[in-house]
Amino acid sequence: MNNAPATTPDDSEPAPRSEQELRDAMVRRLIELGAARSPRVVAAFRAVPRHLATPGVDVAKAYDAEYVAVTKTDASGVDVSSVSAARIQAMQIEQADIRPGMNVLEIGSGGVNAAYLAEMAGEQGQVVTVDIDPDVTRRARDFLKATGYHNVTVVTADGEHGVPEHAPYDRIVVTVQAADVPPAWVHQLRDGGRLVVPLRMRGMTRTVAFVRDGERLVSDGFELCGFVPMQGAGENRMRLAVLHDAEGEEIALRLDGHPEPDTEALRAALRTPRAEAWSGVTLAGDESNEHLDLWLTTALDDLPLMAAKPAARQRGLVASASPLGVPTLVEGDSFAYRTVRPTNDPDRYELGAIGHGPRARAVAERLVEEIRTWDRDHRAHRAHIEVHPAGTPDDRLPAGRVIDRPHTRITISWP
Ligand SMILES: C[S@@+](CC[C@H](N)C(=O)[O-])C[C@H]1O[C@@H](n2cnc3c(N)ncnc32)[C@H](O)[C@@H]1O
Repeated sequence: MNNAPATTPDDSEPAPRSEQELRDAMVRRLIELGAARSPRVVAAFRAVPRHLATPGVDVAKAYDAEYVAVTKTDASGVDVSSVSAARIQAMQIEQADIRPGMNVLEIGSGGVNAAYLAEMAGEQGQVVTVDIDPDVTRRARDFLKATGYHNVTVVTADGEHGVPEHAPYDRIVVTVQAADVPPAWVHQLRDGGRLVVPLRMRGMTRTVAFVRDGERLVSDGFELCGFVPMQGAGENRMRLAVLHDAEGEEIALRLDGHPEPDTEALRAALRTPRAEAWSGVTLAGDESNEHLDLWLTTALDDLPLMAAKPAARQRGLVASASPLGVPTLVEGDSFAYRTVRPTNDPDRYELGAIGHGPRARAVAERLVEEIRTWDRDHRAHRAHIEVHPAGTPDDRLPAGRVIDRPHTRITISWP
């Protein structure tokens, strides 16, 4: 099966590659991207015939490390189920550090990732995968049966409650965006066990590897990522404050526990001329903003993300149209968002802020001040994230940003 041609032979085309060749090429890419690092993760990604989970999708596409196969979209057009990109799956499995014989729970099924987890846990291990959607669990069961992964138990239920029947787990890997950590995930994890979860904090989602320490979870690394949002009891979607609604060039602030903005004033502000402020701080062309953005969200109280359609940028309404959203400082009737401009060095960009509204310059300057603080005091460090039960008093939390959710108090702190 693994050596069957991936495409129909055609004299005018290069020779078709076998499924195993496509898998090997995907694995080389995962290694290049730094997503797969350890030999056992590499071996797992070489073994699973992931294309069988996406019938109808071109086999070469199914082995593209970045390809996400969306399998369900809800009535409002939001993607709610998918087979995640191999890059993200490998990244999370590395974070989970799964050893043979472990008992692993996956929240959010699809089949493919459960097969990788089963490779990691080995014959003596056990994998339980739970999904809220019976269509998904049916597909996952079919895939796991067809590919011979018999040590995976597939459960249809709301993963908010974990799967108590098979607990305790050595590892829990969540493959759906969560805004909170329900108590069941902590209590069904062994002390010292690892929970890997795409946790949304103030609008941005990072897959965080946590280690359980009693009632507390302590981070051991995190990576920026995107996931479909959680459904069921833990559903907690972001709200939008729409600043510009012309079709195809929409601009909106994504609110995730931020104060309610004066949307009318901010809509008017967007129509006022820009005020720019520049920091003198530069980034290399291939350097991510993610740690800067985490610092900004730690330091500034009212910093939602501004998302814009590409046409809004093309028309010059905003300078950025990042799909992840751009940190935007809101102060009453004015706002300013992070931006970059070229420098004389073709490989470096200068960070700055673009403000709009009556206090455009002051707000842009305030954002730039925090960019300089990050560069001076925090650039060489990584943030530390902890999760404590709701109700933990302030004086028992680490210093820094506190994000209050129904079940937990999430903290982001910096050395
Ligand atoms: C990105 S997909 C999972 C991908 C999968 N792990 C794979 O093999 O690539 C996210 C899944 O989470 C599921 N989901 C959403 N809310 C859930 C909940 N409360 N409990 C369990 N599953 C949930 C969705 O139905 C969807 O199938």
